[in-house]
Amino acid sequence: MLHKKVQNTGNLTVQPSNTVDKELPKFAIPATQSDPKVALQLTEDELMLDGNSRQNLATFCGTWNDTEVVEIMTSAIGKNMIDKDEYPHTAELEERCVHMIADLWGSPSAASTIGTSTTGSSEAAMLGGLAMKWRWKAARKPTGGQVPNLVTGPVQVCWHKFARYFDVELRELPFHRGSYISDPNEILEHCDENTIGVVNTLGTTFTGHYENIEDLEHALDDFQSQHDIDIPIHVDAASGGFVAPFLDPEIKWDFRLKRVSSINASGHKYGLAPLGVGWAIWRDESHLPEDLIFNVNYLGGEMPTFALNFSRPGGQVAAQYYNFLRLGVDGYQRVMRNLRTCAEYLSNEIKSLERFEVISDGRTGLPLVTWTSSNRDIDLYRLSNQLRSYGWQLPTYTLPPDSQDVVVQRVVIRQGFTLELARQFIDALRSSIDYIDANPMSPTAPEHQNGGFSH
Ligand SMILES: Cc1ncc(COP(=O)(O)O)c(C=O)c1O
Repeated sequence: MLHKKVQNTGNLTVQPSNTVDKELPKFAIPATQSDPKVALQLTEDELMLDGNSRQNLATFCGTWNDTEVVEIMTSAIGKNMIDKDEYPHTAELEERCVHMIADLWGSPSAASTIGTSTTGSSEAAMLGGLAMKWRWKAARKPTGGQVPNLVTGPVQVCWHKFARYFDVELRELPFHRGSYISDPNEILEHCDENTIGVVNTLGTTFTGHYENIEDLEHALDDFQSQHDIDIPIHVDAASGGFVAPFLDPEIKWDFRLKRVSSINASGHKYGLAPLGVGWAIWRDESHLPEDLIFNVNYLGGEMPTFALNFSRPGGQVAAQYYNFLRLGVDGYQRVMRNLRTCAEYLSNEIKSLERFEVISDGRTGLPLVTWTSSNRDIDLYRLSNQLRSYGWQLPTYTLPPDSQDVVVQRVVIRQGFTLELARQFIDALRSSIDYIDANPMSPTAPEHQNGGFSH
């Protein structure tokens, strides 16, 4: 879409009816200042036009916060996470979180584990991938021509980015129909002496299933005894890292498994921290090569840093620590149990409509529900559009190759999504289906006119 270029350099003033009678600047900073109240109103007007984030059923990221979190974010607004000399207590909170999370993930030496906060799981995944690449280089001493590869199950796009940005061949297993996680034996078929590691996901983005990391460990043990090649595992626990320890503690996926060398998770997803924080944790110091760590002294003091960003806000880290204090293990368990109860309720209701095949019901894996149209008798893209009229934003998407002909919808249950909201959503879903059934000829967007089932 082409934007009409409007140069507006004049002062913005509010008219008596509380409106501004000028088109707002979009391409150049206005020449003069405006009243802060006017600027605030105009900016908030734009934000108002976004959907309601709590009705966004697509995102894994938290959309509900304690009022105390808002207070912490306000008091920490000026704190830069990188200035560890100037804000040693924010740095201390980060350290404490690293150790608490390492302990939660079964680290054999949680009090001395090495790790860092990041802006989210994507950055944490890049750091995990880089450490594996450096360790591969140190172990194999490539003489040129060898291309490092990373073998994975179905992964989130951050791993595609990692592979492209850092020159690693991505060997991502195809998504077989009816099976939503990777098969460890199939993983082995793609491993060789240039494999820097295997990534498995605890709670895939597509269906929320946990991959079987314990079986993967056994398979890689067999591989090592046959080929004398030692391959580490990185677990992408973006969402599951703060779900499984509270709901499914018997599942071994973390540092209790000796091959798991690093783990990433998003504090801003089920860690319940506000947007902008992730965690990367290594099994021990030997898993994070020294030459990836930069020491800088220009902030005062000698600061080791291993991160893609330099400056970033410290408030999210402080809020993560607040949540650990506020909720404790018991509180996280309660929150997660409630979310799973909501997912079970939703999946039962969705099954009872007899129009959908439920692919994941939240009873195992992440607290989310994924479904597809049983007989392809309802256009899911159109259903999403219809639900928008009730404010609900429900994502419709295709599964990755080789199941790209399967169109699914997904509700991610997050803190703040109550059983009452789940009921309201089901009412809106029923009404939307009734509307579509009663109006079969209503126009749909051109790209979805075939029902949106093949892409
Ligand atoms: C499995 C997985 N890995 C990584 C990411 C990227 O996380 P972030 O948005 O925190 O960068 C996501 C996001 O949904 C995810 O589901």
